[in-house]
Parts: sequence; C-alpha cells; structure tokens
Amino acid sequence: MSDLLEIRDFTLDIDTFDGPVHVLKNINLTVKRGETLGIVGESGSGKTVLVRSILGIGPKRSRTISGSIAFDGTDLSTLSDVEWKKIRGVRISMIFQDPMTYLNPLFTIGQQIGDVIAAHGRATGTPTRQKARRARSEELLDQVGIPDPSRVCDQYPHQLSGGCARGC
Ligand SMILES: Nc1ncnc2c1ncn2[C@@H]1O[C@H](COP(=O)(O)OP(=O)(O)OP(=O)(O)O)[C@@H](O)[C@H]1O
Ligand SMILES: [Mg+2]
Repeated sequence: MSDLLEIRDFTLDIDTFDGPVHVLKNINLTVKRGETLGIVGESGSGKTVLVRSILGIGPKRSRTISGSIAFDGTDLSTLSDVEWKKIRGVRISMIFQDPMTYLNPLFTIGQQIGDVIAAHGRATGTPTRQKARRARSEELLDQVGIPDPSRVCDQYPHQLSGGCARGC
C-alpha cells in the first residue's frame, strides 16, 4: 500500500516583479497512515506555501521547478478540477492561520458549516438537504465540545468568544 503523502524533491519558485523567489527547495517528506508530522521553521521559511501547494492552492505566480507530491499513490499535479473536488476538503484539509478571519461575518455559523457540507456532500455521502445540513452542523459543533450547538448555529462569528472556550 502506498504512503499517504509522499513529497519528493519538491522545488517551487514564486515569480515577483523583482524576479523569481526560491521559496521551497528539494523538499522530501513522507507521511504514513496514522502518522502525525509537525513542520517547524522560522517565519517566512515556506511552511504555508508548502501546505498550500499540497492542496493545489499555492500562490498564483508559483511555479513547480521540480519534484512531485503524491497523495495515496496519486500524483496530485495530474488531477482535474473535478478530481480535486473529491480530495480537497474531503480527504485533505487545511486549517488556515488565523481561522477567525476565515469566517464570513455576514453569515451565521450554521450557514457557513452548512455550505461546506453542501459543497462536499456528494463526495462524502452526507445528505445535503437543509434540515440534514443543520443537524450535521450541530452534531459537528457538539463533537468538538462547543456547548449549546443549536444556539451557536444561529449566531454570527462576532457573537462567539475567541476560541469559544467557555459558554460561547
Ligand atoms: N504570493 C506570494 N508572492 C510572493 N512571495 C510570497 C507569496 N506567498 C509567500 N511568499 C513568500 O514565500 C516565503 C514563504 O512564506 P510562508 O508564508 O510559506 O512562510 P511560513 O513559514 O508559513 O511563515 P509563518 O511562520 O510566518 O507563517 C516568504 O518569503 C514569503 O514572503
Ligand atoms: Mg505560515
């Protein structure tokens, strides 16, 4: 069985007005099933660019110079948009830095979780009708220990405390 994630000699440049910036150079790493891997490096060393590249959402002007990224034996650079939809957000996900800013202030928590469920419903087999989305949203909030999920679903991001640790 192939390793879950296999990055080989991955080298990536980003084109800027001042010429190419060599952001990632000969990255090699393997993640096996069930394994946890931490990547540590100083600010600007390329951690985010690497993870975004794995998800196929690297900076617009980035160019892969060499190497490959394979997920479960599939070279990710060969995937079509339709094939990506079955993997991104379903089998590989990313929690972005400063996730609070990724919540849209104009929509409730329930609407935003529901949108993700709807977007990936077909691939994950989750029912996507409104009632089912709502129930699943509450279930997910409950799973991560958010108290009173039903109320939280109807709240807007600014109504949650940072970290939502107590009482939300
Ligand atoms: N869109 C872009 N255009 C030009 N350069 C970029 C772009 N995105 C990232 N970079 C450069 O790529 C390098 C790596 O940035 P990256 O954000 O991956 O670092 P990081 O290790 O995640 O840092 P931090 O620990 O601060 O999150 C930096 O020098 C950054 O300036
Ligand atoms: Mg980063």
